[in-house]
Amino acid sequence: MRKNKIFVACDTNKIKKIKKIIKDTASSEITVGYKFGLEFLNSVNGRKFVSSLKNKITFGDYKISDIPNTCFSALKAVRDLNFNYITIHINCGLDSLKAAKKASGKTKLVGVTVLTSLDNKSLKKIGFNENLDKIIYKQAKLANEAGLDAVVCSAHEAKIVKKVFKKEIITPGIRMNNKFDDQKRVYTPKEAYKNGSDWIVMGRPIIKGNIKKNIQKLIDHLNQ
Ligand code: C5P
Repeated sequence: MRKNKIFVACDTNKIKKIKKIIKDTASSEITVGYKFGLEFLNSVNGRKFVSSLKNKITFGDYKISDIPNTCFSALKAVRDLNFNYITIHINCGLDSLKAAKKASGKTKLVGVTVLTSLDNKSLKKIGFNENLDKIIYKQAKLANEAGLDAVVCSAHEAKIVKKVFKKEIITPGIRMNNKFDDQKRVYTPKEAYKNGSDWIVMGRPIIKGNIKKNIQKLIDHLNQ
């Protein structure tokens, strides 16, 4: 049977903690990749640590959002890290996405749609007048047009994205209880896979507390 896939968000700036996360999340029942975000990648030794990782699925969550020339240069600047996946905000527009794609090489370029910490109310405040589902549908179309390799969206939108984007779908905003933290569009791991997400992303529910127990909880939830 195909294994469920999860990116564990390594949201810390401590190398010791990252090593523990990698050790304690190892499992033969699920496929685990490691997502490094702005906190770790901007820490003094973060970049060097990532460059030393071998035989791991790695995800550089840079969430790049800039003009085409800067996106192109940013992708080139991190090529030596050989990430399997790197994120860019789809909101930076088609030309920026295309420019980044030209420089991404073997790394899969992942388009981020509306953050899972936002809902329709917060979008209105930013100035978006269309509803979430419509915006995400348009963003998925752009991702397809730019030739991106994956899209990040919530489990609810996976079905919408699938209509126009046929490659990988990666889903954060995952919880197994009602402790949502700052996330708004939240679903369970099972719901995400059922809706067509290829990967789920989990940070705090895995890395806070007892990591081994948390991974076992996830496996039990998937086997229920
Ligand atoms: O701790 P939690 O499970 O909420 O972590 C989710 C991770 O996914 C964080 O590292 C966050 O930066 C990332 N992410 C997200 N929503 C997006 C894209 C990435 O929560 N749309």
